[in-house]
Amino acid sequence: MQSKPSVPFDSASMDLLSTALAEPGYGVFPDLLTTEFQRGLIELMKEKLAADQLVRAGVGAGGEKKIRSEIRSDSIFWLEEDDKAPVAEAWIEGMNGLCEYFRRHLFLSLWSYEGHLAQYPAEGFYKAHLDQHAQTLARQVSVIAYLNEDWSESDGGTLRLYTDMEKGVNGPFIDILPKAGTVVIFRSADFWHEVLPSKRTRLSLTGWLRGREELPIRV
Ligand code: OGA
Ligand code: MN
Repeated sequence: MQSKPSVPFDSASMDLLSTALAEPGYGVFPDLLTTEFQRGLIELMKEKLAADQLVRAGVGAGGEKKIRSEIRSDSIFWLEEDDKAPVAEAWIEGMNGLCEYFRRHLFLSLWSYEGHLAQYPAEGFYKAHLDQHAQTLARQVSVIAYLNEDWSESDGGTLRLYTDMEKGVNGPFIDILPKAGTVVIFRSADFWHEVLPSKRTRLSLTGWLRGREELPIRV
């Protein structure tokens, strides 16, 4: 059993995340996670893989969820508050701390976190999408931490983030390498993004800060 690492972000890091989220609405932070925390998360991923606890990810919300191999090829493990691994507990505490920080500094109504470890096989991908489901507005802020040591450009697997909300996938984009320690944040409703195929297995921890309830969209 690992010892419990400290929270993933100190207040200086939370301030960086908060400033980026306010404007332009997204941010990419290489080396934001401490080496200790990265190692803890990588260790957790290895444990879950060894115990065969990942399942093929679906597309859509709630009862509408379906496996669609032509859209995404990752397998995932949902983090639970009562996971025995101290690093999972520390991460969730950190994410709840971020909710509080964004409530206080950005006046966003964020009250809970959901997140999963994800493994994309070699040649895996996730086609362009928005993280906020059409049926629910619960996902407000996306937070991704990458867990790939020694990842280089030739390995592919970049996260392509389309930075112009109006133009979407026809507009400008940035490509982010999924290197261990890098953290990406963006407003879930505003940024189209996709995972490009990689040469190697690609690991990440993806999650969302959520609003208080599942607000139905008006029809
Ligand atoms: C997702 C997602 C991006 C990534 O799981 O919704 O877009 O880089 N992941 O892993
Ligand atoms: Mn996404």
